[in-house]
Amino acid sequence: MSEHNFPAAIAIDGPAASGKTTVGKMLADRLGYLFLDTGSMYRAATFAALQRGVDIDNELAIVALAEQIDIEITNADEQTDGYYYLVYVDGEDVTQAIRTQVVDRHVSQVSAYAGVRQQMVKLQRQYGERGRVVMVGRDIGTVVLPQAPLKLYIIASAEERARRRWLERQAKGDSTPYETILADVIRRDKIDSGREHSPLRPAEDAVIIDSSGRDPDLVLEEILRLSCFTMP
Ligand code: DC
Repeated sequence: MSEHNFPAAIAIDGPAASGKTTVGKMLADRLGYLFLDTGSMYRAATFAALQRGVDIDNELAIVALAEQIDIEITNADEQTDGYYYLVYVDGEDVTQAIRTQVVDRHVSQVSAYAGVRQQMVKLQRQYGERGRVVMVGRDIGTVVLPQAPLKLYIIASAEERARRRWLERQAKGDSTPYETILADVIRRDKIDSGREHSPLRPAEDAVIIDSSGRDPDLVLEEILRLSCFTMP
């Protein structure tokens, strides 16, 4: 199998900490595609609102802001930049700023506004049209790129996902107990799957991949094999 036979847009969805970002990034690197983490766009809009003092509860103002700002995402060099990708809002590098706790706290609310979603989906489709992209999120296969020839839905047990987040946080010196993180994972699953607009669910033709207890390299190999059946 040669890698240039890969479909031009690959959609990856799944719950938080399912491993979709790690595997999506590995896949994009392997193929020389852009890696687009759509969660970062909702984070960028949330950060812009906080920075400019726009009230998060004011849906009209938040939607207007999301329509005004220019969000750009480019590939980064992990070795030198320390990030998978760089995010800009109106030319300002916000890569680090969108990962703060204050953004974490407000991003679910911002991403639940239909007008914000409409705007982000429009931008995401523009990236999709350029092709050669691995796009990761919650609604990529169902809403953003329903025509993508390869759609993956990556899952892992709540316990395993909580364990991954717990290990990540421990490495950063954060001692939040495992039980707290597990409860948060379960709470976020409920919000993401239960929301009115674009709830988290697999597309009908998505391939479901369980990453529980598996090394990301093995998951990547499975995806590369799968592509044999999804060539355009
Ligand atoms: O993947 P993440 O934690 O960076 O996502 C941030 C938020 O954006 C999270 O609340 C889920 C939401 N999101 C979404 O609604 N649709 C997407 N395509 C990607 C993320």
